[in-house]
Amino acid sequence: MRIDKSSPIPKYHQLKEIIREMVEQEELKEGEMIPSERELCERFGISRMTVRQAVMELVNEGVLYREQGRGTFVAARKVQQPTARLTSFTQDMRERGMEPSSEVLEVEVEGAGPLAARRLGVEEGERVIRLRRLRLADGEPMALETSHLLYEVAKGVLGRDLAGRSLYEELSAAGVEISRAEQSYEAVPVSEEEAALLGVEPGSAALLIERVTYDAGGRPFEYVRSTYRGDRYRITATLTPGDRVWRPPH
Ligand code: GLP
Repeated sequence: MRIDKSSPIPKYHQLKEIIREMVEQEELKEGEMIPSERELCERFGISRMTVRQAVMELVNEGVLYREQGRGTFVAARKVQQPTARLTSFTQDMRERGMEPSSEVLEVEVEGAGPLAARRLGVEEGERVIRLRRLRLADGEPMALETSHLLYEVAKGVLGRDLAGRSLYEELSAAGVEISRAEQSYEAVPVSEEEAALLGVEPGSAALLIERVTYDAGGRPFEYVRSTYRGDRYRITATLTPGDRVWRPPH
């Protein structure tokens, strides 16, 4: 792997791709320190400024992280989340060999606000359970989730241990069957409060995932807003051709 100086692709960009490839191929392993700026300059015959820009961008993208006074290291791989499967946080983490847990920040029975009411297809003020949890994997904060659950459907979960258990498992035990969900993704910066809970810098990138979940009768009963750490999450999808296949313009 080398940098092609005659290429129109900027040198910092080429270096980024090289480092990314080394991480992908595990030539540089999770938690390992990357070579120093000087070593990278010498090895690839490029300037310090070029190296700095490449490393800074990879830090911003969550591929590398910096530790004050120690150096730059390879970050943990992002959790891959396929878009088409309806799973719970607990399932997602267990499938990856991680131990899920939660801190219950708030649990309240209250009247639905305008947004939750609209998403759940009920009148404003309809009784809902609002559950705010910090979700952790192997003790590390991954996401903040606020669920609004129709009281009539989900009241069976009140009083259950939602810190140590899966909401979906508790719902299932209470006889609620999940049939489908609709989900959207948006890029957002984290607020100061969210940053403190998630252990990231305020303003860093996050994925805002909104989900409306339906029961077996086709009734929406759960509206959730989740803020997932952008440096730990990656959404994947399998795409199949639609009716009209897109072709590149000639
Ligand atoms: C995911 C979804 C949420 C859902 C939660 C249930 O995190 N984004 O919409 O409420 O899973 O998770 P669990 O059953 O682990 O509590």
